[in-house]
Amino acid sequence: MASKIFLALVITTFVVVASAGNFNQDFEITWGDGRAKILNNGNLLTLSLDKTSGSGFRSRNEYLFGKIDMQLKLVPGNSAGTVTAYYASVTVLSSLGNTHDEIDFEFLGNLSGDPYILHTNVFTQGKGGREQQFYLWFDPTKDFHTYSILWNPQSIIFSVDGTPIREFKNLESKGVPFPKNQAMRIYSSLWNADDWATRGGLVKTDWSKAPFTASYRNFNAQACVWTSSGSSCSSKTPSSSSNQAWLKQSLDATGQARIKWVQKNYMIYNYCADTKRFPQGLPPECTLA
Ligand SMILES: *[C@@H]1O[C@H](CO)[C@@H](O)[C@H](O)[C@H]1NC(C)=O
Repeated sequence: MASKIFLALVITTFVVVASAGNFNQDFEITWGDGRAKILNNGNLLTLSLDKTSGSGFRSRNEYLFGKIDMQLKLVPGNSAGTVTAYYASVTVLSSLGNTHDEIDFEFLGNLSGDPYILHTNVFTQGKGGREQQFYLWFDPTKDFHTYSILWNPQSIIFSVDGTPIREFKNLESKGVPFPKNQAMRIYSSLWNADDWATRGGLVKTDWSKAPFTASYRNFNAQACVWTSSGSSCSSKTPSSSSNQAWLKQSLDATGQARIKWVQKNYMIYNYCADTKRFPQGLPPECTLA
């Protein structure tokens, strides 16, 4: 009897959380004074930006590793000067100082008909500067598209509609810090950055087009939720469990080929190719990876 209860506890406590999200349950609006809205019984979230303020939200849970998908539909029309940031980050308090970890997607708006830039970055132990930028192979304002972060102990993989666009490998054994000791939340915000976002700041936000709105749906997290009592993915979890495959997932040959395709056809900036910026030599992960 006691052992049965114990077994039941183990199962319920250590199952990896796979949640098909509801914004009311999974997120909280953090700023924007009414400009962020959760709609349709928690199935849709919208952020908006006007001249007075942008808006933002964050996940209620903190995660230590996960495969996290979100569908976004970006600000349509003239979105020049606006930035929609969607990222995983350690909480602001613990990020002060030199321990900041962050995994970033940022969408830089543009004039109607001109392409958005998808800007990505990875911060580990306070150090970022690892920008890679891409054009997308579709118009991200017409429909929802899925943007995913796979974060496990071996690597961080950014994907768009299931196509991997970037991998940041765990090269700790070669001296490159990798985020694996601090839990992160999912954050998003829509804000004005017309001093740099569009054509390097040349094109300003046209406030006559405000409010600007971005939409979110279908949040899905297969993830290890971190609480004060530890991770929901304990070592006690049977490792054969198929719903934890993402914890061990790495890029297979198809994935490698897809990344190459994206990088060849859509990448517009890669810090690892910016020899002017790093006259003393490229960052170590660029040559080790
Ligand atoms: C905006 O469009 C211009 C012209 O096509 C392009 O050079 C630029 O990369 C685009 N994106 C941003 C965010 O500036």
